[in-house]
Amino acid sequence: MTDALQYAQDHADRFVDELKAWLRIPSVSTDSNHDAQTRRAADWLADNLRDAGLEAVEVVDTAGHPVVLASHHVSDDAPTVLVYGHYDVQPPDPIELWDHDPFEPVEVDGDLVARGAADDKGQVFMHVKAAEAMLGTSRLPVNLKLLVEGEEEIGSKHLPDFLREHQDRLKADVVVVSDTALFAPGVPSIAYGLRGLAYVEVELQGPSKDLHSGVYGGGVENPINALARMISDLHDHDHRVTVEGFYDNVIDLTDDERQAYRDLPFDLEAWKSEAGVSATKSEGDFSVLEGTSGRPTLDVNGIWGGYTGEGAKTVLPSKATAKISCRLVPGQTPGEITDKLRAHFEAHVPDTMTLTFRNLHGGHGVIVDRDAPAMRAAATALEGVFGQRPHFTREGGSIPIVADFKKILGLDTVLMGFGLDSDSIHSPNERFGLDRFHQGIEASIRFMDAFAGQEV
Ligand code: BES
Ligand code: MN
Ligand code: MN
Repeated sequence: MTDALQYAQDHADRFVDELKAWLRIPSVSTDSNHDAQTRRAADWLADNLRDAGLEAVEVVDTAGHPVVLASHHVSDDAPTVLVYGHYDVQPPDPIELWDHDPFEPVEVDGDLVARGAADDKGQVFMHVKAAEAMLGTSRLPVNLKLLVEGEEEIGSKHLPDFLREHQDRLKADVVVVSDTALFAPGVPSIAYGLRGLAYVEVELQGPSKDLHSGVYGGGVENPINALARMISDLHDHDHRVTVEGFYDNVIDLTDDERQAYRDLPFDLEAWKSEAGVSATKSEGDFSVLEGTSGRPTLDVNGIWGGYTGEGAKTVLPSKATAKISCRLVPGQTPGEITDKLRAHFEAHVPDTMTLTFRNLHGGHGVIVDRDAPAMRAAATALEGVFGQRPHFTREGGSIPIVADFKKILGLDTVLMGFGLDSDSIHSPNERFGLDRFHQGIEASIRFMDAFAGQEV
């Protein structure tokens, strides 16, 4: 065992205590009432990085939440690794479904339960503690940079500009991100794909005000009825999206990829039980795994209008609204799909309704090169930790800035995540297995060693 791995083992309990302290700071980026706490989470991380021994640590202001930027230079000959992650978290709502205070971490059956435990503070902290272990044993083998933002959960609005402005300070050979999942407990994986996102809101207005459904019903069209019909027409019987041109630019899964999906040790029954469903539904003849990561989707995320309080109210509402998002695959772009959604709704809106279409936000999907040297280093690192070669998988979630790392900084990203689909990220009782936290620290240490030992 190397000194650094020994160091990580010797200090494992303190690492967990520190993570708990960070998780106690409710850095909910979407809620401006939490702005002071969000900044406090950035400052806390900066202090921890200084204590870990990094030579340059800064909290940089942006037009939104601050970015924590740290670096440590060891040698002009060593490769440079840029670790990216986010310190902001999702709101804890619905708070009544948590078994404990979301911002008072508790250990339950070996898991740390708290908002942000897996997404993403726990995973960022693996790299912070790996850096401490390397620096504490005087053997950091790479130039290390960390970029930890506070706006990932709200679409990383200010980060592309930040990358442009700080291009020089962000020079690196590769980006490493731990904000995805292992394929299964004990089954390592490296993600080579992420989906993109196009998020819109659609509102139909019928009558100019709410009406008595007995007096007017039968003479005017109901916007909820109309919106429901438009929404139900968005998929065909094969569960394909009917928006004109939706699939035009999709880069199809290759035969090799489809074979790799079939070769994964996937437990469909466990997946169904985790999702709480008795039957699955995917596009055409695509499998559940393909449908949830390699194919684009359209889902209604929320719908409202009319009377939703207790009891009955005979109202014919004037408005109906829905939030609709599409997960995209490489080839598709958020701009293109948003335009196609807009055209679709405009073409199909009944003449009894007026349509308001709002574009909320979007992000590009990515596919990264599975043969890049950093990917091989990550595979070596994970094999060292888990005793088996990692699978290469595509993930269904989105991390929009990853596409910008390529576009703006010219950098490939290694997605080496330690979450599990069962971590309940964005849900009540979010958790992160402490075994995975420690495996992640070990993997980060091993990755730096493997990457430094390679030609880049
Ligand atoms: N860490 C997730 C993304 C993720 C989750 C990737 C699981 C792979 C597996 C990230 O914090 C997230 O929640 N992203 C948002 C994107 C966004 C623009 C708000 C998402 O995917 O909904
Ligand atoms: Mn995340
Ligand atoms: Mn998230």
